[in-house]
Amino acid sequence: MSTHKAIALEEPSVPLTVITLPTPTLSATQILVRTSLVSMTPLSAHQIDHNLLTAPFPFIPGGNLVGTVVARGSDSIRPELHIGAKVFSYSFGPREGKACQELVVVEQSRAAVIPMGVTDLEAVAVPDSFVSAWHSLNVDLGIPLAGSSDPTTAVPQPPANAHKPVLIWGGATSVGRFALQILHRHGFTDITTTASLRHFDELLALGASRVFDYADPNVSSKIGMPQLVLDCIGDEARTLPFYSTVVAHHATVAVLLPVRMRDGSISVTVPTEFASGVTVRPVHAQRYEKYPGAEDLQPSIMPRWLKEGWIKACRTRWLRATGAAGVEEALHEFRAGTVKNEKLVMKMVLGGACAENAPAR
Ligand SMILES: NC(=O)c1ccc[n+]([C@@H]2O[C@H](COP(=O)([O-])OP(=O)(O)OC[C@H]3O[C@@H](n4cnc5c(N)ncnc54)[C@H](OP(=O)(O)O)[C@@H]3O)[C@@H](O)[C@H]2O)c1
Repeated sequence: MSTHKAIALEEPSVPLTVITLPTPTLSATQILVRTSLVSMTPLSAHQIDHNLLTAPFPFIPGGNLVGTVVARGSDSIRPELHIGAKVFSYSFGPREGKACQELVVVEQSRAAVIPMGVTDLEAVAVPDSFVSAWHSLNVDLGIPLAGSSDPTTAVPQPPANAHKPVLIWGGATSVGRFALQILHRHGFTDITTTASLRHFDELLALGASRVFDYADPNVSSKIGMPQLVLDCIGDEARTLPFYSTVVAHHATVAVLLPVRMRDGSISVTVPTEFASGVTVRPVHAQRYEKYPGAEDLQPSIMPRWLKEGWIKACRTRWLRATGAAGVEEALHEFRAGTVKNEKLVMKMVLGGACAENAPAR
């Protein structure tokens, strides 16, 4: 039986460790990827801290990965995913699909070849946030994005709702940055966002029409009456109260889950009351594959937008540690709120051949 190493939480409330797991057999639609880089997402911190979908143990933290294809489940896998191809992916559960292990079983529909001219470090900073932004806009806010039906469209026709005022709350988040860029390229011209002052110029350059400081006590009176809202933070005290009372009568509001509650817990529903007529959509981006067009999102839309320069990858910051200590370091940063407009990246060095594959810092 072949085995590989993984970073794992073996039971609730213990430190992460490195364990050895049997390497699963691939189904006909899966590839096996030897991971070289991972970038962490806040979801792992929410999961570990609140015991959210961590069972059955051991729980492997997830995120984005870059790695090399080392096995294919069948000859019907897309030819570009050949042995030796360098790929990037937002890969998630069950356990064998989680990023923080040497060998990850990735559905071919979640894998893309890294385009020429794009570095591994750029690639690892894109998938989960791009997928979340695209899914939230397309499915939860009902914006028909080009590429969901035709991935070859170069300059999309503005959708019918491109004239509507949009609010992206938290434009400096990794999801918010992609949402701004996707809306801008689709011809939206009335895009309000919130961020701290130091991000204003960058967010205007990415496509925001105007930016307001989320810490301004009068921010609610400045954001107008948006008809489409994407809350990229989801916080009972720090985001929802600031726009829930000013949205337009028939607005649609999408809120990234989980919502952080005042008492420190998290909620997978949106706790705030909105006026009748407002549609509130809690966003579950990991369910994106249930919707039409999803099969193109990671394999073709994501690499094309990156290759063409229609999106800029998020900034990255190297974690100081690797292995279980590196993930612990990332969790600590998420808890402390010190991850600002960046992805935390780590080499997947758990011993053996992985170290040879990891790119130089
Ligand atoms: N449900 C889903 O499908 C899904 C998908 C992806 C992400 N998420 C969740 O969405 C949240 C954000 O994820 P992320 O990776 O995009 O975050 P991130 O990039 O780590 O976000 C950090 C940024 O948030 C900004 N920020 C902090 N408080 C804010 C506030 N009150 N208003 C506006 N901006 C604020 C900070 O801006 P400054 O630098 O200006 O302080 C900081 O730069 C996480 O809780 C994550 O779990 C959910």
